[in-house]
Amino acid sequence: MAKTKTLFFCQSCGNESPKWLGRCPGCGEWNTFVEELVPAKAGPGGVFAGLIGLSGLGGPGGGAPVALKEVEITGERRVGTGFGELDRVLGGGLVPGSLILLGGDPGIGKSTLWLQVANHTAGRGMKALYVSGEESTRQTRMRADRLGEIAGGLMVQAETDLAVVIKQAEAIRPDLLVVDSIQAVYRADLESAPGGVGQVRECAAALLKLAKTTGIAVVMLGHVNKAGDLAGPRVLEHVVDSVLYLEGERHQSYRILRGVKNRFGSTNEIGLFEMTDSGLREVANPSQVLLSERPQGVSGSVVACSLEGTRPLLVEVQALMVASPYGTARRTVAGVDQNRVALILAVLEKRCGLNLSGHDAYVKVSGGIRIEEPAVDLGLAVALASSYREVPADPGTVVFGEVGLAGEVKACSRIDQRIREASRLGFTRCVVPAGGLPQEACGIEVVGVRSVAEAIEACLT
Ligand code: TYD
Ligand code: MG
Repeated sequence: MAKTKTLFFCQSCGNESPKWLGRCPGCGEWNTFVEELVPAKAGPGGVFAGLIGLSGLGGPGGGAPVALKEVEITGERRVGTGFGELDRVLGGGLVPGSLILLGGDPGIGKSTLWLQVANHTAGRGMKALYVSGEESTRQTRMRADRLGEIAGGLMVQAETDLAVVIKQAEAIRPDLLVVDSIQAVYRADLESAPGGVGQVRECAAALLKLAKTTGIAVVMLGHVNKAGDLAGPRVLEHVVDSVLYLEGERHQSYRILRGVKNRFGSTNEIGLFEMTDSGLREVANPSQVLLSERPQGVSGSVVACSLEGTRPLLVEVQALMVASPYGTARRTVAGVDQNRVALILAVLEKRCGLNLSGHDAYVKVSGGIRIEEPAVDLGLAVALASSYREVPADPGTVVFGEVGLAGEVKACSRIDQRIREASRLGFTRCVVPAGGLPQEACGIEVVGVRSVAEAIEACLT
């Protein structure tokens, strides 16, 4: 048995310490340190110290320094996954030799998505190896049967011992290796239990080495814990080339694939999928789908526009304000940051003269999608005011712009692109920040507003 020693890892950011700490000096979180056994040789600098040189695309380090100008870039090859939405989130397809982490709640569709991708890859004459640490090969076969024709080159292996997985992968040399999941596999030379931070880090380190030395594109699937952190795998975000999350409400069929880190493309790109009886299907026109169930003529419903990565997305924001029967007003928020809603409520109260303090506020973004871009602020403000006054907003209007504490509306990026998306979907009017009016006519009425009050005026009459 290899010599081991005890180290403590922060479950939130992966910081390590020789002793237990109540608060992580790296991320400031409390009670995140867990004890793990790691090989004694993984000395100061951490278990990844020797791997830093491997993390680029150029393969293992070890060479002498060279002039950057002289470094040859061989045409970067990208492999299509069969899903345009996934390719875009990845920055144009899978990069050979890259290591990808896909996180998501249990049951959201991670295994399904990557079994489909593996099948597609194999169907195009490449080799794909799907390693399942959670299901038997029969169970994987039963799942694959739902997804359509199974390609001859798709191989499966039910295995949790990572050494075996790596040995097989080195022998078979697939173009794509899917490890389902990173919490299920373990390294036998470590004493700690599978799924722990130490195991997960070590396993990822071994897979990183495999990807960089062989050129195999490796995808690790990982479960998110209840608190929303990728238990364990969160610490891998620094190591991998791309981090993707599959999100959505389990009881709704839409799934959002979000890129939160991407070494080979832009981040914050999203892709929309629908879970069907035969696996995941990409949604070609996300704005249309997200707006399809929009109620007409009801107060509190407003169409806002958010830029997700490079793509404008129209979403319906809904607000419901009701007189609070209790002393303290409730604020229940889904799909946007609760703090932003609090800020907008404060602005509406102080700058627009709405007396909201005795009201409960419920806010929701339709379709189970989560929006982080501040440009939805103005849509939220109008939706809240619409519900409070019980005046429906004009259904043909799209509203966007960031809201400041003085009640002002700030310019946001790519206004033209957003207006074009609104026009494409048949909207007739956009209420936008006055500071960023488009230069050219977009075939749609554009109203520039300087304040939240002006926006409310423009939408609720
Ligand atoms: P799964 O991919 O196993 O989720 P994860 O790997 O993230 O835990 O997805 C499981 C869910 O998806 C389960 O509720 C069944 C459903 N599903 C479909 O609706 N259609 C399908 O074709 C498949 C394979 C699964
Ligand atoms: Mg799974």
